Amino acid sequence: MSEKSGKKVVIAVDGPAAAGKTTTCLALADTFGLRYLESGRTYRIVAYEALRRGVAVEDGRAVVGLCDDLIDESRSTNLLASTRYEPQELRSISVNRTVSAVARIGELRGRVTELIHLWANAQARCVVEGRDIGTVVFPSARAKFYLTARPETRARRRVQQEGRGSYEEVLKDVIRRDEADMSRSVSPLKPAPDAVEIDTTSLSVNQVVDRMVDVCRTRGVAIS
Ligand code: DC
Repeated sequence: MSEKSGKKVVIAVDGPAAAGKTTTCLALADTFGLRYLESGRTYRIVAYEALRRGVAVEDGRAVVGLCDDLIDESRSTNLLASTRYEPQELRSISVNRTVSAVARIGELRGRVTELIHLWANAQARCVVEGRDIGTVVFPSARAKFYLTARPETRARRRVQQEGRGSYEEVLKDVIRRDEADMSRSVSPLKPAPDAVEIDTTSLSVNQVVDRMVDVCRTRGVAIS
């Protein structure tokens, strides 16, 4: 799919856990009238179901089989759009601990990429957040962003936002997931060469969004 030509618009937003991707993507979606997709949700659904159904996440084939079952079960929608799951179920400590093992399975990543393409094909203009959106899923996205911030800042923001868990626990989880996301051999987290990198450590949400909006406008994304 070539997003750089025609009216189709895909904006890719990547970065480590709790870097502010969701907040800024929602603001971009609102400003430009884009559909929004949180790709990490799919990895979380698979991790959640693996825990619930007793599938060992170290067993790549079993996890891919589980993903295929989930796709079959949600045939009428798209697993990505499934509303069966409560946000707090998918953001539990056990899912946070398990999701990195699921996300390092190459074949599973292929399945999730297909689901994202399927979803995006049905949208005229969208913004997608994740870890490999600008590098692997949409290498020719109209605009690419890589958001980051110091781990301490990300952990503090996450605790303030969610109001649960101690700062120390959340910081440990953030650092562990950074390490897992960046060191895996398949689609590791890294900025695409043509991504605009924004360190949000000492920026307000508005400052980050303003910068992203400016970049999108210079890439020809019109306000609808
Ligand atoms: O964005 P998130 O924290 O909800 O993502 C959950 C996990 O899924 C994250 O630890 C890494 C993985 N992930 C991924 O590997 N690739 C993506 N495009 C999105 C998420």
